[in-house]
Amino acid sequence: MCGIIGYCGPKKTASILIEGLKRLEYRGYDSAGICIAGQGQFRIIKSKGKIKNLQNQLPDGLSGNYGIGHTRWATHGGVTDNNAHPHTDCAGKIAIAHNGIIENFEALKNILTHEGHKFQSETDSEVIAHLIEKYYKGNLEKAVKEAISLIKGTYGLVCMHVDEPGLIVGARNGSPLVMGIGENEMFLASDVTAIIAHTKQVVYIEDKEVVCITQNEFRTTDLNNREIEKEVEQVSWELQEIEKSGFSHFMEKEIFEQPESIKRAIIGRIVPELATAKLGGLNLSTNQLLNVERIKIIAAGTSFHAGLVAAYLLESIARLPCVAELASEVRYRNPIIERNSLYFAVSQSGETADTLYAMRELQRKGAIVLGICNVVGSSIARESNGGVYIHSGPEIAVASTKAFTSQISVFYLLCLLLSRMKDMSLETGSSFLENLQTIPINVGKILESRQKIKQLSKKYCHYKDFLFLGRGINYPVALEGALKLKEISYIHAEGYSAAEIKHGPIALINENTPSIVLVPDDRLREKIISNIKEIKARNGKVIALCVEGDEEIKKIADDTIEVPKVQEIFYPYVMIVPLQLFAYYSALELGRDVDQPRNLAKSVTVE
Ligand code: AGP
Repeated sequence: MCGIIGYCGPKKTASILIEGLKRLEYRGYDSAGICIAGQGQFRIIKSKGKIKNLQNQLPDGLSGNYGIGHTRWATHGGVTDNNAHPHTDCAGKIAIAHNGIIENFEALKNILTHEGHKFQSETDSEVIAHLIEKYYKGNLEKAVKEAISLIKGTYGLVCMHVDEPGLIVGARNGSPLVMGIGENEMFLASDVTAIIAHTKQVVYIEDKEVVCITQNEFRTTDLNNREIEKEVEQVSWELQEIEKSGFSHFMEKEIFEQPESIKRAIIGRIVPELATAKLGGLNLSTNQLLNVERIKIIAAGTSFHAGLVAAYLLESIARLPCVAELASEVRYRNPIIERNSLYFAVSQSGETADTLYAMRELQRKGAIVLGICNVVGSSIARESNGGVYIHSGPEIAVASTKAFTSQISVFYLLCLLLSRMKDMSLETGSSFLENLQTIPINVGKILESRQKIKQLSKKYCHYKDFLFLGRGINYPVALEGALKLKEISYIHAEGYSAAEIKHGPIALINENTPSIVLVPDDRLREKIISNIKEIKARNGKVIALCVEGDEEIKKIADDTIEVPKVQEIFYPYVMIVPLQLFAYYSALELGRDVDQPRNLAKSVTVE
């Protein structure tokens, strides 16, 4: 949602903060601001728009050896300079940057206003600065604890007091906060990307913990002032993984990384001689796995679509009842936890509030919930009962691409593991593995043929409405393709089961509403050909994704994108990559901000 950063150290604080905020910009980019402290005063510069706007406003000679910064995704109050963080108290002696939502901020604001506090912004976050001011009696850490004990909602928070030079206090509840330990310097940030250029020694702050940092020390306590011993962890990936490495956009880089990222999801997790998989993080014995009678998956957005693919796989191949549901719906439905059920929470960021809170609700009711995450040490990864990291490497673009193919890769492995515990034979399992291991090469072939997709995107990107149609295991791929197009090109797009169009959506078909139809050479091919003919009979244009050499499809569709032939259940891999490219090139053609589309954020850490 928002990005926060704090720095104590000898380097040029403004540069450290701005550089860190740029690496956090994918979390939210409506407005940004920094507060530099030094020589007994605060200098606050903040502005709406991207961080480069803020950078252009920085005065020369901005000195100071500690400070905080924030990049915002608006939740309360419009996108204005005033609503940008950091916020201060009435006296301008306290500065805070906050990521999260304060659900009881109106009540708190009324009390504080009644007590004479003057507010500068419309935000919920500013309440924190005034609460700290109310309780401040010379000890910032203590005042912060008293303030946050009154807050209902979530916070990832960094704050400073001008009378306590060199100290930054951080606190966390529901929004991520990580501390970086450098050489003679300390960092606090929403996530590791903001600080990895300086240190790989990190400490993950947990909910209801407060951390105090100075240039050379840190101390972590709970809200009752009990000291907490924290483990210092080593970040495993490199800085260049969060650079664009010669690509025009992070999204392009991440699409083209997929042959490698799919391999990373699989590597070390297959047992060829037994034609099965090994997923140690499940924290379940083989016998416990054998007793699983049904699987349920909770997620949001693209991760939900990956869950739908998984549900199809686990039911059709592993013969286990499996459903994927929107986490936001499960949380408030008072779900029934059936015995011998196993849940999976799927989340690239591991911080999506809808998924995190749904997981906590399921666990409260006794469910075992495993996390399928990408970000190591993320909230869902740490609070789940075990799980599997997808190892796709940092995904920076707001539109998720490589995480999707890595998420389904983990589920293909889980499907193999469970199937081989039941009635899948060694031969069938070996064939499954052989086909799975051809996927990186087949995805690479699609990437090599991207020019055709680029041409089609130029031809079609000026249409205002699209339908994406697929069946069976490719129905979720149609949903995902529609999400990709709409979220980065802003073109309206809807995904449907191809069979479903005759139950209403076909009313939308005319010469101005192209349909993108996924037509693998599987047992539903003839049915989908009928759907294509129904569309053509109503003057609808059809772009068909079909197996290379399928001349019949080429005859009936207006345009085709050919994909490599793979075993039926593996088509999601080779169908989604062309749709990712179609969305990317369409957005480029339309001049959209591909990596940071309007209104969106990479990790939605509020409900
Ligand atoms: C996908 O392109 C979107 N950025 C969004 O739907 C995303 O998948 C969703 O917010 C879930 O994020 P997560 O995987 O980090 O939980």
